[in-house]
Amino acid sequence: MGIGFLCSNITRAEFGALMNPRGKNKRDVWTINADRHQGSHPAVMPEALAEICVRAGSRAGDLVMDPFCGTGTTGVVALKIARKFIGIDLLRQCAEESRYRLREVVLACSG
Ligand SMILES: C[S@@+](CC[C@H](N)C(=O)[O-])C[C@H]1O[C@@H](n2cnc3c(N)ncnc32)[C@H](O)[C@@H]1O
Repeated sequence: MGIGFLCSNITRAEFGALMNPRGKNKRDVWTINADRHQGSHPAVMPEALAEICVRAGSRAGDLVMDPFCGTGTTGVVALKIARKFIGIDLLRQCAEESRYRLREVVLACSG
């Protein structure tokens, strides 16, 4: 049986600059404002939260996967900052809402 890992090429220095912009460790509690979201999902996360994690774990051109993608916030952020994205969700309604949001980003980015 094979096990595969996708690894980011981000360097330790780049990770440190992102997570510790003032030379201090990011604390356990991050204060981030909620985003407005008009879909039906009750637990959509703010894009700013996803962006910190996506930037910390990948570089432009990398593939980001969210296996519990809900409405696709991780994917929206990933596409906006030039990553590729694969999203998975148990619920068809969530997958469709993700696809709709991702299509909006692609259309906005392409002109
Ligand atoms: C907290 S929500 C994710 C919200 C997402 N971060 C967003 O911003 O929209 C968790 C999602 O995981 C999905 N989920 C739960 N169990 C799952 C499973 N076994 N496989 C795939 N998705 C699952 C749920 O349907 C739900 O949409």
